[in-house]
Amino acid sequence: MYQGKLAFFFLSTIILIGQYESTPLDDYVNAPDPHFGWTIIDTYEAPDYKLYILNFTSQKWIDERFSSRSIWWHYLCITVPNRLTRPNTAFLLIDGGSNTDGIPKPNDESVELMSMLALGTGSITADLQDVPNNDPTNQTRNDNAALAWTWKAFIDNQSNPAILMHLPMTKNKPLPSLTWIKSSNNTHGYIRATIDFSVGPKPISAIGYRARTLNEKRRDFRLFIADPSNPVKPMPNPVFWFTTSLVTEAQTNTTIVCSLTIEYPQEGWEGFFIQVNFPGPNGSVLELTTETQIVPDTYPTDDCHNESCAGTLV
Ligand SMILES: *[C@@H]1O[C@H](CO)[C@@H](O)[C@H](O)[C@H]1NC(C)=O
Ligand SMILES: *[C@@H]1O[C@H](CO)[C@@H](O)[C@H](O)[C@H]1NC(C)=O
Ligand SMILES: *[C@@H]1O[C@H](CO)[C@@H](O)[C@H](O)[C@H]1NC(C)=O
Ligand SMILES: *[C@@H]1O[C@H](CO)[C@@H](O)[C@H](O)[C@H]1NC(C)=O
Ligand SMILES: *[C@@H]1O[C@H](CO)[C@@H](O)[C@H](O)[C@H]1NC(C)=O
Ligand SMILES: *[C@@H]1O[C@H](CO)[C@@H](O)[C@H](O)[C@H]1NC(C)=O
Ligand SMILES: *[C@@H]1O[C@H](CO)[C@@H](O)[C@H](O)[C@H]1NC(C)=O
Repeated sequence: MYQGKLAFFFLSTIILIGQYESTPLDDYVNAPDPHFGWTIIDTYEAPDYKLYILNFTSQKWIDERFSSRSIWWHYLCITVPNRLTRPNTAFLLIDGGSNTDGIPKPNDESVELMSMLALGTGSITADLQDVPNNDPTNQTRNDNAALAWTWKAFIDNQSNPAILMHLPMTKNKPLPSLTWIKSSNNTHGYIRATIDFSVGPKPISAIGYRARTLNEKRRDFRLFIADPSNPVKPMPNPVFWFTTSLVTEAQTNTTIVCSLTIEYPQEGWEGFFIQVNFPGPNGSVLELTTETQIVPDTYPTDDCHNESCAGTLV
């Protein structure tokens, strides 16, 4: 499933490049192929939608000498909701799987998910399985490998950052933005956050969080640490984060500037950050935070190298 989604994103990347120049991919995709075609294998009628299972032949890849099975055929599952409110839009999931998996059924995970999406969006959806269809080099890439591949391609040739799969993966509906500055003088630390919701929803709330280390030996905000006398044994390190209110420094119709000032602790360290909550879909909450500022900006030991780092902290 996940791999299939990434395959879809990967294709979007290629299509972006295609807008600027004709690539070998354009030439490949645009070449006529007499093998293209489909037959309907099964039809299911659910109360709210119809599901068609097709045997879909997408192409012939190079020739028989190059690959033992050069004709690519796929199971293609198309859901048409009875309530078709977006007839001009469709969603295609380019999915994985193997031709040997057998004919898909309505309750298969990815098929069912696409049918739910069709009902939820009022549009036609399709689950195109068995992509890629075969790989004569035996190097079918999984999702992480495909991501890594796009990074390698970008490092080799940085003229087109859109090759990075992270770009289309990140590209989504507009989100509000949160930016911040951190500073400190000799007595106080300070974070000022600027929330810009000129695109995206207005924030629900903005709060500060602060926590103090247990002592002046460890600049350590983890709830559990390794027992120094037995490093494989976890032991609690009860550093708790408490909420604290912010100062609103400025506000317009589309921005809010708020800040948090924290005095240096008498001993140990204090960490703090600002969290802004935005309304998400269906009652969910999108939480964005600034970086954490830690005061004072000192460490319990001097820099060390090699054997001189041996100690009792961990
Ligand atoms: C699908 O079609 C291909 C030829 O296009 C054929 O080789 C294959 O056996 C068919 N599969 C099924 C399940 O009908
Ligand atoms: C790919 O794997 C198959 C089955 O393991 C093997 O027979 C074939 O020789 C491999 N092909 C290459 C190019 O390594
Ligand atoms: C880098 O990629 C661009 C297309 O994005 C291409 O025009 C250029 O020739 C490539 N450079 C190298 C060194 O491959
Ligand atoms: C440090 O910052 C705090 C908080 O803004 C302020 O009250 C204090 O006067 C500053 N100290 C100096 C020496 O500027
Ligand atoms: C801000 O919103 C108020 C009320 O909705 C409106 O009257 C005002 O013109 C807005 N100001 C700007 C700068 O958009
Ligand atoms: C929205 O939330 C309700 C109640 O938790 C749930 O029943 C419904 O399935 C959710 N809808 C979506 C699209 O997630
Ligand atoms: C640390 O050890 C490495 C090799 O183990 C050595 O090359 C390096 O000089 C050492 N550094 C110091 C500061 O002793």
